[in-house]
Amino acid sequence: MLENGHSVFTLTNSPGLGHPLRERIDSVPFNFDQPDKLAHALAGVSVLINTYWVRFDHRRFNHATAVQNTMVLFTAAKRAGVERIVHVSITNPEEGSDLPYFHGKGRLERALRESGIAHTILRPAVLFGDGDILINNIAWALRRLPCFGVFGDGEYKLQPIHVEDFAALAVNESMTTGNRTVEAIGPETFTYRELAQMIGQSISCPRPVFSVPPWFGYVAGRMVGWWHNDEFITQEEITGLMQNRLHVDAPPAGRTKLSEWIKQNADSLGRTYANELARRQGARS
Ligand SMILES: NC(=O)c1ccc[n+]([C@@H]2O[C@H](COP(=O)([O-])OP(=O)(O)OC[C@H]3O[C@@H](n4cnc5c(N)ncnc54)[C@H](OP(=O)(O)O)[C@@H]3O)[C@@H](O)[C@H]2O)c1
Repeated sequence: MLENGHSVFTLTNSPGLGHPLRERIDSVPFNFDQPDKLAHALAGVSVLINTYWVRFDHRRFNHATAVQNTMVLFTAAKRAGVERIVHVSITNPEEGSDLPYFHGKGRLERALRESGIAHTILRPAVLFGDGDILINNIAWALRRLPCFGVFGDGEYKLQPIHVEDFAALAVNESMTTGNRTVEAIGPETFTYRELAQMIGQSISCPRPVFSVPPWFGYVAGRMVGWWHNDEFITQEEITGLMQNRLHVDAPPAGRTKLSEWIKQNADSLGRTYANELARRQGARS
């Protein structure tokens, strides 16, 4: 957006955290609990790109609150006269799902459609790039463990998109008109088993990949989580994966191949564990 000459500011939960673009992008707190302030902050804004969400339910945050907060954001945007919203959802959202992530995303897609604000809904499956958590932590596990377990048969699929391809898509969509929904997937499709094998080979840690019952994989993930004071993977994430929710039958929207990106980043990927909860702690302090 900056390269295109637009002026940009960010709404964030962590205005105090340093960022390379800090000098060029003002940051404003979300103020979900003060809708008037939020609407005031959005006055004069033509496009809102919404990435706000929480990854899992936790004692400090949860999906239900994230849904409410996002509704407050949409209402504030409407009051402020925002002309377009580019909203980040996920592949296969579904209001009827009993998985709070996919239910919440489905509910918000409906809220946005009913808002009357012109919009694009972007539905990524998995993002990868610098600062990534999921792909990095699979590599982290492959570096440390003699073997790697996949939940069940491991045949459910994922279609990762590079974060810069995704950002370019969001910028393009901010300049279109009308309402659109885009399956924001990358050019490669992997089964979860293939993904683990490919990452292992690319970082020179090829490991035997075998099936484990989902409960066993969850318990192993909990142990990693206890070790790092984090959530490595939640039961809902395992169920969502196994329901094939990170796969859609659509043309790719990104060009960068995960397999090539991993080769380019093979030396650094997975060297350190990427901790979701520590990031959130940092955001609060
Ligand atoms: N990452 C993926 O693989 C993936 C896959 C499919 C869909 N998506 C979607 O893509 C969007 C961006 O995802 P991301 O992984 O890049 O998220 P992120 O950068 O970790 O977070 C995006 C925004 O949500 C806020 N946020 C995240 N967790 C929060 C928490 N626990 N409490 C309060 N605020 C929180 C962040 O706050 P700060 O401003 O403080 O950083 C930030 O404003 C989301 O809508 C997500 O559902 C991501």
